[in-house]
This record gives sequence, structure tokens and C-alpha cells, in this order.
Amino acid sequence: EAAEKGGFDHFMLKEIFEQPEAFKKTLTGRIQNDKVKFSEFEFTKEQVQNWKKIFIVACGTAYHSGLVGKPLLEEFLRIPVEVDIASEFRYRDPLVDEETLAIFISQSGETADTLAALREAKSRGAVTLAITNVVGSSISREAHHTLYLWAGPEIAVASTKAYTTMLIAQYLLCIYLAQVKGTMPQGKAEEILSALQLLPKKCQEILANKDAFLEAARNIKDAQNLFFIGRSYDYHIALEGSLKLKEISYIHAEAYAAGELKHGTLALITEETPVIAIALQQKTYDKTLSNVKEVKARDAFVIGLAMEGDTEILKTVDKVLYIPKIDDIVSPVLAIVPLQLLAYYAACERGCNVDQPRNLAKSVTVE
Ligand code: G6P
Repeated sequence: EAAEKGGFDHFMLKEIFEQPEAFKKTLTGRIQNDKVKFSEFEFTKEQVQNWKKIFIVACGTAYHSGLVGKPLLEEFLRIPVEVDIASEFRYRDPLVDEETLAIFISQSGETADTLAALREAKSRGAVTLAITNVVGSSISREAHHTLYLWAGPEIAVASTKAYTTMLIAQYLLCIYLAQVKGTMPQGKAEEILSALQLLPKKCQEILANKDAFLEAARNIKDAQNLFFIGRSYDYHIALEGSLKLKEISYIHAEAYAAGELKHGTLALITEETPVIAIALQQKTYDKTLSNVKEVKARDAFVIGLAMEGDTEILKTVDKVLYIPKIDDIVSPVLAIVPLQLLAYYAACERGCNVDQPRNLAKSVTVE
């Protein structure tokens, strides 16, 4: 097993460090002359124009990746998108028909709830598309079309490289569909595609700075409760960062949309509840910072996650972790990496079984 871990203490750390390579594999061969193409499938303009609605259905970390996919698809494809938890989707008589594209995201391709939701959508006439990491998995076999992540095997229960590559796959899918439909401004496609290609190198830079995250983990390791806050994409990252911490370190963490804190949760903030504030989106930066001031005024210890070069945030937070400068729209792919490392080191500091957390399984094949 030591050999399989390739010199790393845990599979999770190995898989976090495999991300730059995994990004390359997800991107390879899919971008040609600023156009996206997939060898797995092709859609016509008529097919894409026929979709009046898109569903993204998944569980756990894969569900969190779908939350990032929704605003992307809505912005560039101009089709309403709903993101649903697979175990909820089936039981609520979803409005799915022949004019629906239903996307199912699953690392393993075997999650029972996701598979059942796929069958439900198919029986209602939807076009189904799986995004998965496992070739030949049940979900890939049953969906009409499959987009593979090519991230390589993921062993640790807590998903890392599958999450980031699910995001990359959705950027690519979104650009592809919008190019086919004719709703993607070419300049915007070029901008996102070149940002995506910078991700392996920029992720490497974060990994080279891993000690900063170990140090931050020591700041939070004794907390009983902790909050992650952010707006828009930063909120989606907050949700995934919080899940990572809960899964492996057993620290109770909650993610909150920063603007929603004042409607109740602010009552829980004391000097004993550290807050991780994600402030990467320029569009919402000032608003997020004023929410950070609100938690600071309640004596919370605040760790900010900001874009390199942001010195403004230093005036408000106790500590800041940086990611390299990158286009806001693809920043989620980098933003999660420090939070994966934070969760990893917090779990190690607390003596937890990182790769096999209690009560959890890598793939859940019961409903
Ligand atoms: C389990 C794993 C999670 C994973 C979820 C969905 O709960 O512990 O890490 O996100 O299943 O798995 P899938 O293979 O469908 O992405």
C-alpha cells in the first residue's frame, strides 16, 4: 500500500497533489482552435435548441460541483438549470420531458441514488448525459451520452481531484453546448479556455505553498464549530470546503451564503467560532468584505481566502490564504485546493483516519 501511495502519507494527499496532472487529462484533446469538441458525443444545433430546461443531478461532492455548473450554463446557454440532490429528485415528480437535458455527475458512476434518478429522467423522455470518472460504470452505460473526467483512480473517501475535474468538465461542456447553439460570445470562450489551460500550473503553485495551509489548520483544529462564508461561486466553494472538513476532521462546519448570515446565523458567531471567508469574486467582493466585518465585530477568528495581490482584505481578517491570480469565472477550481489541504491537515492534527473516515464509504450503492 505504501508503494501505491507514492510516498505520500495518505491517498487523499496524493490525490490532491495529482490535480495538476488530472486537469491536463480532462482538458487534453478537447480544445481545438478555441472551440470545444468531445470524442465521446456530438450534438446538433437543433438538438440543443430543443432543450427548454436542464437538470443537474448528483450526490455529495458531485452535487456541489453541479452548483457551479448551473450559473455557467444559464449565463452562456440561456436555458434555466435546476440542480438537485439525486435522492430528492426522484420523489418529487420533477418536471422532466423530451425537451429536457438531464446531466448526472458521479465520480464512481455507481451511486445508487444517482443511478435511480437517471432511470427516472430517462423514463420521462429526457436526453441524459453522464459526467463520470469510471469507464464502463453503471451510470455511463445507462446514460445516452457520457463525458469522462480521466482523472485517474480516486481511492480516498473524500473526493478531491474528481471534484476539480468535474468543474473543468462542466466549463468545457458549457462552452461546447453554447458554441453549438450559437450563444457563446467567441471572446468569452477564448478567455475561459485560456484561463482553463493555466490551471495546472497555478494549482502547482498552491501545492508548493502547502505549509501555509498546515499552519492555518493548526489555527482551527480545536474548534467545535466553524463557518465558511462566500457569495456566488465563492459560496459553492464554501459548501464543498465545509463538507471536506466535516468528512475527515469531524469538526462541525457550515457553509453560509455571506449575505444570508445576518438573517439568523450571525447569532452563533463568537470568539470560539472561526470563520473562513472566501472573497475571490470581484462582483461581490465589497459586499463579502462587509459581511466579514460583521463576524469580526463578534470576535470571530477569520481566515480569508483571497486572490494574490489583494492587500485590502488584510485590514479585516486575522490571516489570509492566497490563490494565484486567475479569471474569476474559473477561480472555483483553484479555490477549493487550499480548503482541501486545510481539511486534510486539520484531520491529521486531530489524529483522524483521513482515507477511511468513520461511517462513510467511497461509493454508496444503497438508496
Ligand atoms: C459518497 C462519497 C462522497 C461522494 C458521494 C457521491 O458519499 O463519500 O465523497 O461525493 O458518494 O459519489 P459519486 O461517486 O456519485 O460522485
